[in-house]
Order: sequence, then structure tokens, then C-alpha cells
Amino acid sequence: MCGIVGYIGKRNAYPILIKGLHRLEYRGYDSAGIALVDDEGALNVYKCKGKVAALEHFVETKNLGGSIGIAHTRWATHGVPNDVNAHPHCSVSENIALIHNGIIENYRVLKDALEANGYTFRSTTDSEVLVNLIEYIRSTNCCTLLEAVQQALKQVIGAYSIAVIERGNRDEIIAARKSSPLVVGIGEGEYFLGSDPASLIEYTNNFVYVKDGEVALIRRNHPLKLVTLDNRESKIDIKQLELSISQLEKGGYPHFMLKEIYEQPKTIVDCIRGRVNPDSGNVKLSGVIDNRERFLRARRIIFVACGTSWHASLIGEHLIENICRIPVEVEYASEFRYRNPIIHPDDIVVAVSQSGETADTLAAVELARKAGAFVFGICNVVGSSISRATDSGAYIHVGPEIGVASTKAFTGQVTVMAMLALTIGKELGTVSDDYFHEVSQALLELPDKLTEVLKLDAQISELSKIFTYAHNFIYLGRGYNYPTALEGALKLKEISYIHAEGYPAAEMKHGPIALIDNEMPTVVIATPDHTYAKTVSNMEEVKARGGRIIAIIAHEDEQVRRIADYCIEVPVVTECLMPIVVSVPLQLLAYHIAVNKGRNVDQPRNLAKSVTVE
Ligand code: AGP
Repeated sequence: MCGIVGYIGKRNAYPILIKGLHRLEYRGYDSAGIALVDDEGALNVYKCKGKVAALEHFVETKNLGGSIGIAHTRWATHGVPNDVNAHPHCSVSENIALIHNGIIENYRVLKDALEANGYTFRSTTDSEVLVNLIEYIRSTNCCTLLEAVQQALKQVIGAYSIAVIERGNRDEIIAARKSSPLVVGIGEGEYFLGSDPASLIEYTNNFVYVKDGEVALIRRNHPLKLVTLDNRESKIDIKQLELSISQLEKGGYPHFMLKEIYEQPKTIVDCIRGRVNPDSGNVKLSGVIDNRERFLRARRIIFVACGTSWHASLIGEHLIENICRIPVEVEYASEFRYRNPIIHPDDIVVAVSQSGETADTLAAVELARKAGAFVFGICNVVGSSISRATDSGAYIHVGPEIGVASTKAFTGQVTVMAMLALTIGKELGTVSDDYFHEVSQALLELPDKLTEVLKLDAQISELSKIFTYAHNFIYLGRGYNYPTALEGALKLKEISYIHAEGYPAAEMKHGPIALIDNEMPTVVIATPDHTYAKTVSNMEEVKARGGRIIAIIAHEDEQVRRIADYCIEVPVVTECLMPIVVSVPLQLLAYHIAVNKGRNVDQPRNLAKSVTVE
């Protein structure tokens, strides 16, 4: 989704801004632009449709001077991706330039009012309305740029993070946030602005997270100032971010997605470190232990999430119901927030989000808190909006995930959910010692099992060539692996653009069986569990209709080998952790098919890494 970068200091702004834009490319975008105020005070704005590389090419012969500037990658919401709709947007007089992430919901009303006052618009964006509103207020009220931004934002309904600069003013950037991420990086005599601190990590690891409703006054040679729209000053709270640049680079892999798939043995180690004791086998999530009483009286747990995080939550439902015997509901955050849900003060709402910035999940968190529920976050990005908005939580600690298709975050989320279930189950006394130790031991063995699974890569790469040109896939699984089937199908459609559906295997007979023929491959998760025999029968039904089967199996499973056309054999772990093992070959299958088709694996069309608008 859209990305913001800004700089003010003693260096040339352009190279810093362009590097920042490259670092934000993973978020997904369709155009890019930059605005600089040069040393004479001229405001130069350059923008174009396409990638940051296209912008770099476009500005080659332009004036790129100036030690203050703002830059943006746009993911289209209002208006098609083109040069005119790209940010920055300038006011009618071309005195003010603005970049904006988010959506101004009442832009039509504001635009009508501005048009009535003689304003004209070049683009079809909501953002151009805001920059003109700022200019209108600034000129009619003869106020400062800060005051004009504050007054304009009071009229805005919607979500935003913005940055504004002005012709003739090389000393000041005004930025503001509501429901869309924004951080100020603090350097030595310089400031950086970004929607993601990771994009600025080579310059500083000191960050101030701008809060909702705050406006940042970022002035050359002055301390950073944060004020509300009513001009009340807020405290500056500088946080340190521990991250290395190598975590943001491909490290020799052709794609971030492949790197992230291969990182999984290590990310599971990082995820369980300090939580699963290798000597005693004890498992503890401090976010639960510190709120023990709250968890002990939980009547119900509600997971809220989107996309892959929602799939992980479905596995969380099985884990918690099996291990803790607490009823669980899993909700799409986007539906939950708008359907007047029943939330009791004794409920625990678990918000699951890799980015910690998903707008719908954040809104669901706010709703749950208002209803008095205790909100627990499972996030990856440290300091993200959701992690800050929750009462307690557990980071998954898998490091930055840059590929748009989530891989290591999914396995990290399921790992945290297993630890969550074990911690609560032990406190409640609903889990036997034997089972507790079986699962905790399996968690410790997971990294080695995943290393073994990754050895299947060459086989899966060969297999992918057979199915690259299929138009439809169906993925079947049951129990813990029904969500794994959903996730496998999502991976394939996201990056290869092949239509794929996940189904509980037994549901196939109730409709999707009509689709089965020689043209449509069926991926069946047929690892041992208590529904194994039923799944084998479902496979027979597919074969009887001429379908072709790729089966994920465990051991030398001769029975399935006789039915399936192709088998991928994975190591066995305890049933509740099988989704972690099984998801890896499904990630690799999707990856290789997408590569065979020549797709942009890391930045698939239309997708954004963090969905910060509804
Ligand atoms: C996963 O591959 C997707 N890119 C997408 O479904 C994602 O999981 C979803 O947008 C939720 O994101 P979050 O985990 O950052 O909240």
C-alpha cells in the first residue's frame, strides 16, 4: 500500500528519498513521486506511473538539489494509476506539495466546497482535495502552514498519514497521522520520515511513532515537536529499533519470498526462544502469564484477522479448543467491525496481523477494547499500530517479511498460537502433562523438520513444471489442515494469478466435485490424522472422475501413493503442528509455478503488503 518517505537535514535529500522508496517497494504500489525544495526555495515535483526505477529514469536530467523533500509510492484507491494521480500533489498555486496514505472519505463534499471557491483539480484523487483545502485555509486565514494543516485535518473524515512542504520554506516539514502508520527517525541534525521504520534503518535506529491525531512539526535545527489538532503538545517518546540491513536484502536469493521460505527453520528458533525451555520442556508466553487472571476467567476467545493471518487463526481455533477447552470464534476483521458483534467484558479478543497495520484488524481491536474485552495481539512488526493498541501480546519474531505473499509469518503465527494454547491450557489445567510435553518437544524439533522439508525444493520445482499452465486448482485438507489448504490456495492465486480454492476435503462432494476433471489439479493434504481414512476416500472420488492428484503425505504411504499421481513426502510431527510442516511445500509449489509463469513474485499485481485502507 502507499508509502511515505521524508528528509530534512544537511545532506542531499534526493538519494535518501529514493533509497527509502526502494525499501518501501515491498508494500505494493503503482506509481511514485518526489518533491524537493532546493536551496533557493524552488519547489520541484516529479512523479510518474510505474516503478521507482521509472521515476529515477524520469528525473535523470532534472534539478534534484535540496536538503528537504518528501517522496511517495502510491497504491491506487481514487483514480487509475497514472502520472497525474501519482503523489506528491500540489495545490492550485503550486506553492504546497503533499503526500498522503489513506482515504479521505468526505473528499467529495470538501471538493465541492473548494470548487465553489474557484479551485480546479488536475487529478481524480482525494489527496489533491486535501492539499487545496490546506492552501485555502492558509490563504484565507493568513495562518502558518502548521495551523492550516491542523484546521484542514479537523474537517477530514477518514484515514491518513500525510507530509507537507512549501515553496520558499526549506526548513520545515509538517506531517500528521490518523489510522495510517507514520514514524519520525531522529538523526544527528537531521530528521527522516517514513511509513515504515525499517525503510530508514540505515540512517537511524531512533524513532518516534506519531500517534493518531498528532501533527509533527519537523524543523531544521529545532527539536521535534508533536502537537494535537488543537495544538496541545505531546510528549516525545523515542524508541530504539533493533534491525539489521541484511534482514531487508535478498542475501543471494532471486526473490524475497524464496529467502523467507528458506529462513523458516531459523525463524521458528527465534519464535520459540525464551518461550519453550529446551531442558524442562516448559512453555510460557509472558503476555499470558502477566495477565493470568484475565485468561483464567475468559469465557470465549475471538480471533480477528485478515488473509493469511485469518487462516493461521483458524488453526489457532483448533489449538485452543483442543488444548484449553475454551470456545473460540474466528472472524474476518472487516466483517466483525461492521456487524455489531456481541462482545462480553470476559471475552479475550486475539488480533493477528503480520504487519500490525491492517486497517480492518486495527478497527476490530478498537471496537473490542471499547466493549471492554481484553485484547491480545499476535504481530510481527515491533512497535506497529496493532501491537501498541492491544492490552498484551506476543510478537512472532520472524524478522521483516518483505515478499507480499506471507510465508514465514504464517508459520510463526501458528507457532505462537501453539505456545498460547499450551500456556493457557497449563494455567487452566485442561492439558495433560504428557500431551503438553509431546507438543513442546515437537516445537523444539520443528526447525530440524523444516530443514528436512526444504530438501524437497528440487522435487517440487520439477513438479511445478507439469502444472504451470493449469487454470484452476483445488486444495483439500481436513481438521488442522483445512486452513493449510486455504493458505496453500491463497499462496498460489496471489503470486501466479491461477484461480485456486481451498476446501475441507469432505465438503468437496457438496459442490466443487462438479469442477473435477483432467484439467484441474487437486492438491490433497493426506498426512496421518484421525480423518486420514476419510481423506483417502475423497481422493478415490477425485480419481474416479479423472482428476489429477498431488498429495502431501507422510512416511512411505503406499496406500496414497497408489491413488495419487504425484506425492510430496514430508516428515511427521505431532498432529497440531502439521500445518507448519505442510505449508512449506505448498509455499514452494506456488513459488515455482509463479516463477515458471514469469510473475513478479515479490510484488504481485494489485496486492499490497500492509493493507492500511479498508
Ligand atoms: C498474505 O499472503 C497476504 N498478502 C494477505 O492475505 C495478508 O495476510 C493480509 O493482508 C493480512 O495482513 P496482516 O497479517 O499484515 O494483517
